[in-house]
Amino acid sequence: SYADISVLQVIESTNTELKNTDRVRANGDTVLAEIQTAGRGRHGRQWLAPVGGSLTFSMYWRFNDGYQGMAGLSLLVGVAICRALRDCGVEEARLKWPNDVYLYGKKLAGVLIEVEGQIGAPADCIIGIGLNVMVPAHEYDVGQPHTDLSQVLGPDVDRNEVAARIIEQLWTLLPDFTQRGFEPYIEEWQHLDWFADRTVVVKTGDKRISGINRGIDASGALLLETADGITRFHGGEVSLRAN
Ligand code: ATP
Ligand code: BTN
Repeated sequence: SYADISVLQVIESTNTELKNTDRVRANGDTVLAEIQTAGRGRHGRQWLAPVGGSLTFSMYWRFNDGYQGMAGLSLLVGVAICRALRDCGVEEARLKWPNDVYLYGKKLAGVLIEVEGQIGAPADCIIGIGLNVMVPAHEYDVGQPHTDLSQVLGPDVDRNEVAARIIEQLWTLLPDFTQRGFEPYIEEWQHLDWFADRTVVVKTGDKRISGINRGIDASGALLLETADGITRFHGGEVSLRAN
């Protein structure tokens, strides 16, 4: 079956919409919203988006081999977004492990992946992307330093083109990733890593562990170098901060 793209006006969240649909979903199905009334990030945090100033959408993808087939998915999506931005003339987008896109050290976009399915069964993934197109930093406080595409592409930045390029990249990369996994993308991801070889702090629960960011492995885990050697962190419960 073919994937389809729908553009909705006002909904809670494009992730929720794709999760709760009664329709049969095909890989690559995409929902875009003009306005989300309850856009969210990880850990129940909010995603804020002024009307018309941001790109908020989600794509459905099934991994037949379940959770293990998805390892590194949020990193792959970051690679897809950076490639798409390059196609739009933005060369400077970088990544922050595990799920953010940065532009000149500030947050440009975030990725929220939600999964349905039992361990050992196929995993139905909802890949949510929020990207600032025109979200002036002096008008909106989103809780951390942020930037938008109009900073580099000017006020006439074409939101539809950006959406089309990202969807195009995801439709290209997801089938390949499903077959070959994340390994072929490690190097490209590491080239795009804004924090490469820098001292960072990893927050997990109440703990804060400082170390040098030494990139990622094929499962998408962060490799942190501390006095004890290299420690691996998986995406779920962990946040990375500049030192
Ligand atoms: P991490 O993902 O590393 O844990 P994070 O602070 O980016 O850290 P997320 O839950 O991934 O946390 O994303 C939600 C966060 O995104 C919110 O806490 C808020 O600070 C930020 N945020 C909300 N809206 C925007 C926006 N339009 N642009 C940039 N950042 C935003
Ligand atoms: C993050 O920075 O943690 C992720 C933010 C993800 C926001 C997008 S907007 C489209 C989709 N729908 C949601 O409710 N969230 C994601």
